[in-house]
Amino acid sequence: MRAIRFETTGGPDVLQAIEIETPTPGPGQILVRHQAIGINFIETYQRTGLYPVKLPAIPGGEAAGVVEALGEGVTRFKVGDRVGTTNASGAYAEASLVRADRAVAIPDGISVEVAAAVLLKGMTTEAFVRRTYPVKAGETVLVHAAVGGVGQIMTQWLKAIGATVIATVGSEAKAEKARALGADHVILYREQDVAAEVRRITNGAGVPVAYDSVGKDTFEGTLASLARRGLFVSFGNASGPVPPFAPARLAAGGSLYLTRPTLVDYIVTAEELDESAGLVFDMVASGKIEIEIGQTFALGDARKAHEALESRATVGASLLIP
Ligand SMILES: NC(=O)c1ccc[n+]([C@@H]2O[C@H](COP(=O)([O-])OP(=O)(O)OC[C@H]3O[C@@H](n4cnc5c(N)ncnc54)[C@H](OP(=O)(O)O)[C@@H]3O)[C@@H](O)[C@H]2O)c1
Repeated sequence: MRAIRFETTGGPDVLQAIEIETPTPGPGQILVRHQAIGINFIETYQRTGLYPVKLPAIPGGEAAGVVEALGEGVTRFKVGDRVGTTNASGAYAEASLVRADRAVAIPDGISVEVAAAVLLKGMTTEAFVRRTYPVKAGETVLVHAAVGGVGQIMTQWLKAIGATVIATVGSEAKAEKARALGADHVILYREQDVAAEVRRITNGAGVPVAYDSVGKDTFEGTLASLARRGLFVSFGNASGPVPPFAPARLAAGGSLYLTRPTLVDYIVTAEELDESAGLVFDMVASGKIEIEIGQTFALGDARKAHEALESRATVGASLLIP
């Protein structure tokens, strides 16, 4: 089968198409034949070495397709079931082995493309807006990179539960899209002072929670946008990692909290996976969240996909099609 692999860390050109043997599932595993592969920013961190992985590596943590073979003891699925996989590795391939309890059934009415586009990004949203900080109707929340993959889902989810969303985006075209998604206020964070805008919008109060996946470039502005005892949810580094900072800065900012959550700690058991994925699929099926698959690439063009993601040229979710 065809797969994308990198042997050394570096730019997008380290991603090479290779042929490998289709693996056989071991106990508790399933072999999934991929029909769509979700691209997530984390794969660029792994490729550059920001998040170290064992080399050589086949990147990819999310795919959707059909169960082709079952390992010993698997009862959760049967051959032919449509499933989505997350928190796995090796998804940039025509097929992959996954632990059965790391895969979830795709409900009727949801396409494999939408499943691959929404599952990981949607569960990230579910975990962070319901569990890291349970956002309540009427609260005003800051969401950075609001028309990216996670950002679009988070913006719509927050609107669906009655929150007011202050969205940041990197261009005027993206601002228009953010408004169409329901964002109440849009800040062009490459030009405007985020904290000053947030204070103006909130009559000086600041926001009780801010979702920041941009990292280095937005850190100061996010910190300065929080209300007293507000929570900084730092969940990514699209612009680079946040540099070390002194905890005393949280006191100076108004007894703030900062958390650096990762999805793997919120989806530990099969029950948590089913519950979170179920909530995500319900949001899509009910029309509360529309999934924009902004870009699709052939599996062999994975490097082009990474170039597009890292150059901020994408909107919504991106897929690789095997
Ligand atoms: N902690 C977790 O468990 C978890 C899980 C899933 C995702 N994440 C994080 O969530 C973020 C979004 O992931 P995604 O896959 O949906 O990606 P994405 O949002 O589709 O792409 C990243 C976006 O970040 C913005 N950005 C700002 N500065 C950037 C820079 N210097 N270079 C590149 N992009 C920049 C861009 O939007 P603008 O042009 O509008 O600025 C870009 O489109 C990532 O940081 C990812 O690591 C974390």
